[in-house]
Amino acid sequence: MQWSDDYRIGEPTLDNDHSQLFKILDECRRALSRLDAAQVLHPLLDTAFEHAEGHFQREEALMRQAEYPDAEGHAGIHRSFLGQLALIRREIGAEGPGLAFLYEYLHRWIAGHILISDRKFGEFLDRRSVAAAE
Ligand SMILES: [Fe+2]
Ligand SMILES: [Fe+2]
Repeated sequence: MQWSDDYRIGEPTLDNDHSQLFKILDECRRALSRLDAAQVLHPLLDTAFEHAEGHFQREEALMRQAEYPDAEGHAGIHRSFLGQLALIRREIGAEGPGLAFLYEYLHRWIAGHILISDRKFGEFLDRRSVAAAE
């Protein structure tokens, strides 16, 4: 799961956030193959979580500002994902294999969420700007 233009939704702030997230997740992936993976991965995953949380807040604010009809539903998806993550983190503790699972889960979820849910917001913004230009 490398960052590519396929993940762009056309909103610069969010595209920038998403590509930063991918960069951090890519560092996590590389750290997995190191002998000291558990030590290195922990702070990296923390950075990824913090970045995801900050990003969700920015994204939700933009959605409300744009009066996106599904703003609250989308915020709910973010919330339940963060809840799920907190649960998994508690379950797996600080061990290497658990961290690999956590990384996989995080990266897959983020990639899928951008392609399916965030993209809908990008399309909404596109339609709105086309309508405004007409
Ligand atoms: Fe989102
Ligand atoms: Fe997003």
